[in-house]
Amino acid sequence: MKTGKGLSLALAAAIALFGSFAWAEGDAAKGKTGYKKCKACHTIEEGGKNKIGPNLFAIGGRQAGIVPKYKYSKSYVTAGEKGLVWTEENLVEYLADPKAFIRQASGDPKGRTKMPLKLKKEETRRDVAAYLMTQK
Ligand code: HEC
Repeated sequence: MKTGKGLSLALAAAIALFGSFAWAEGDAAKGKTGYKKCKACHTIEEGGKNKIGPNLFAIGGRQAGIVPKYKYSKSYVTAGEKGLVWTEENLVEYLADPKAFIRQASGDPKGRTKMPLKLKKEETRRDVAAYLMTQK
């Protein structure tokens, strides 16, 4: 995934095509518990306010960096303009290391993030991502 945008896009396409066997589904119910860690900084209800981080309602399918009245780091806006749209798959990757992810997605090796949380366990990330997809 680190070798360039073309490859990531090809991989994303492959995952979309072959998702049924390449993708182990997360558990949204467990993800709701995992999401508790996010609540310090995010709301996820429709019309919920921006806290330290932007509102996450309907994050699945949404372009990165576009919540109104939220002041993002430039890297998020750039990544969105370059085509980053949040999906269950890329959120699993993002939550492992927001800084590394947004640097790659924005093409800015010095890009910043104000989100300090990293979820180490892949299973937890899958579950949280699955939960996020249900909030729309
Ligand atoms: C300590 C605060 C904090 C925690 C905890 C946190 N975040 Fe964030 N998050 C942020 C901030 C701040 C941003 C905006 C980053 C920027 O502009 O630099 C952000 C951005 C995001 C974005 C990008 C949103 C967009 O509109 O492009 C997603 C997705 C996200 N967070 C998901 C999560 C999830 C899921 C969790 C829990 C596993 C979580 N965050 C936990 C602070 C946090």
